[in-house]
Amino acid sequence: MRLGVQRAVLIAAGVAVLATLSQWAHISLFESRLMWNDPGAAPETPELFHFAIQRGAAIFHDRCASCHGADGRGDRSRGIPDLGDADWLYGTGTVGDIEKVVYYGIRSHNPRGWNLAVMPAFARPVPSPTEHIPPLTPPAIRALTEYLLSREGKPADRTTAMEGAAIYGSSGGCYDCHTADAKGDSAIGAPNLIDNIWLYGDGSRQSIYDSIAYGRQGVCPARAGLLRPIQIREVSLYTFSLSHSSTTH
Ligand code: HEC
Ligand code: HEC
Repeated sequence: MRLGVQRAVLIAAGVAVLATLSQWAHISLFESRLMWNDPGAAPETPELFHFAIQRGAAIFHDRCASCHGADGRGDRSRGIPDLGDADWLYGTGTVGDIEKVVYYGIRSHNPRGWNLAVMPAFARPVPSPTEHIPPLTPPAIRALTEYLLSREGKPADRTTAMEGAAIYGSSGGCYDCHTADAKGDSAIGAPNLIDNIWLYGDGSRQSIYDSIAYGRQGVCPARAGLLRPIQIREVSLYTFSLSHSSTTH
């Protein structure tokens, strides 16, 4: 009798150990498949993608939600971009693009981070500390604001907007970063100025004026060395899933 109980206990313990081992093997197999494959490959394997984004969601909640919001929709009063739309400041929103931001950040002082362009403060005597950029007068900044509003199809004063167009393409130097058609340049993080998607503020006259007059320089912290590479991959895949909801269901 006692022997029977002992055997049963032993068998139960054996089963528990085996279950733990197999779960561990399962996790480490998934982790190595995630790490050794191209970052863009996981979304094409539903089981792997599901595993990654579940774990990535917890990391996002801990490390990203304080700025990007629990749902990743950002905060325009602080210049935090929406990660759930298809509009990317940097690159085209591939898992690799996202991973680069998570590793090295944006204006994060990490030498490998994005730091190719800073929006100058045109109302200040020295608009940019690094580049030689001449300041603009308040009427010139108002004219540029009218020009951008008119390009978005919003009510704007036509004559002033035309003055703004001329400044945009000449002394303002805006074309240099935001391109001549004002649609931005995702190779340097210069936003599209005429798509009605605003990083800063609500697209009102005042918020556009403030961006041009006082400059902007959003910072996303670098996580290299602070998160393990597998965690960076998982949180990047989770971030990717926010703008590709159809692939997660
Ligand atoms: C301290 C606030 C803060 C935290 C924490 C933060 N971010 Fe950011 N993030 C920003 C800001 C601000 C920007 C926009 C930078 C700019 O204006 O160029 C940004 C930009 C990004 C972008 C680029 C978006 C685009 O449109 O190209 C990605 C991707 C991103 N963050 C992902 C993350 C992830 C993932 C985490 C967590 C690991 C995270 N961020 C943590 C503030 C933050
Ligand atoms: C040296 C490059 C550079 C130049 C020159 C420049 N910009 Fe920018 N601009 C940027 C960058 C980069 C950002 C985004 C800043 C950030 O992400 O924090 C930006 C942001 C903006 C924004 C805010 C966009 C939003 O979505 O909220 C406006 C408006 C703007 N620029 C207008 C202009 C105008 C008008 C000019 C010309 C007078 C100009 N910029 C010249 C680089 C530049």
